[in-house]
Amino acid sequence: MKVVLLGAAGGIGQALALMLTTRLPKNCTLSLYDIAPMIEGIALDLNHIPVSTKICGSYIQDMTHVLHGASIVLIVAGVSRKPGMDRADLFNVNAGIVRQLVNHVAIHAPQALINIITNPINSMVPIAAGTLTHAGIYQPNKLFGITTLDVIRANRFVADMKGLSPDHIEVPIVGGHSGVTILPLLSQVPDITFSTEEICILTQRIRNAGTEVVIAKAGMGSATLSMGYAAARFTMSLIWALQGRQGIVECAYIENNTSFSRFFAQPVLLGPQGISARRPLGILSSFEQQELQNMRDKLNNDITLGEQFIQKYPMSSCNTL
Ligand code: LMR
Repeated sequence: MKVVLLGAAGGIGQALALMLTTRLPKNCTLSLYDIAPMIEGIALDLNHIPVSTKICGSYIQDMTHVLHGASIVLIVAGVSRKPGMDRADLFNVNAGIVRQLVNHVAIHAPQALINIITNPINSMVPIAAGTLTHAGIYQPNKLFGITTLDVIRANRFVADMKGLSPDHIEVPIVGGHSGVTILPLLSQVPDITFSTEEICILTQRIRNAGTEVVIAKAGMGSATLSMGYAAARFTMSLIWALQGRQGIVECAYIENNTSFSRFFAQPVLLGPQGISARRPLGILSSFEQQELQNMRDKLNNDITLGEQFIQKYPMSSCNTL
């Protein structure tokens, strides 16, 4: 099995590459791509770790070689936030990068499961979907926005608040990956109850966690290590599902095409073809129902932004690479 990481020389890319090097099953290949020449050194560095995974690093190369035979492609390329910025402020730079990379995937690895990590995820996944549609190969069940970072943060924050081990805590997060669109379903965490005040504190903290890191890193970027961990968890779930393991459920931002919104983060059952089933949200508390309505306009605006970009700049008219 081949896993490809596009934009692998950045902070998330390096953390994710390290996690995958130590966790990928035997006989997997990890193909790292970046426009920075240091990617070859990063691959060499990782190839000194005594595992059987083979790691290749490429830059300014024919994408056929990088992507050929890929089962899973992870797109991390793009710029990150500085203090005072919202994820949406990254749109103008990252939209073109995602469109171009997804176009390469469409050409060279049309059967791969494509995973978007580049922000703003709420808009980048619609751009990826539009690019794949233009290429004539869009399969909604094979396109994911990775929102696992919200889940792992929520698990940790709940554990800290309640004085528990995070090992068996799993908080479903639905909606999207920005501000009010991040909705933790705390009412569905098994065996743990929360007061109204705790729900408000946790919801606010989970929504603001990315900004918390951006401020703490003081201009040197956003979350990279926890994001690398989260994306590695999601990638391993995909790999196990591709290998035929049953019952793997992860929350992810996917096309679900409901009247609420075209894209939505929700629990999905993973299988050998990507999404096997979209799981229902289950019973929501009145707070969660209200917050779901509160996110609706923002989520749909984010989606429309991505859709309009791809209508205005379809890849066919600017395929320069
Ligand atoms: C995060 O949640 O940490 C990432 O989406 C990065 C960011 O800009 O917040």
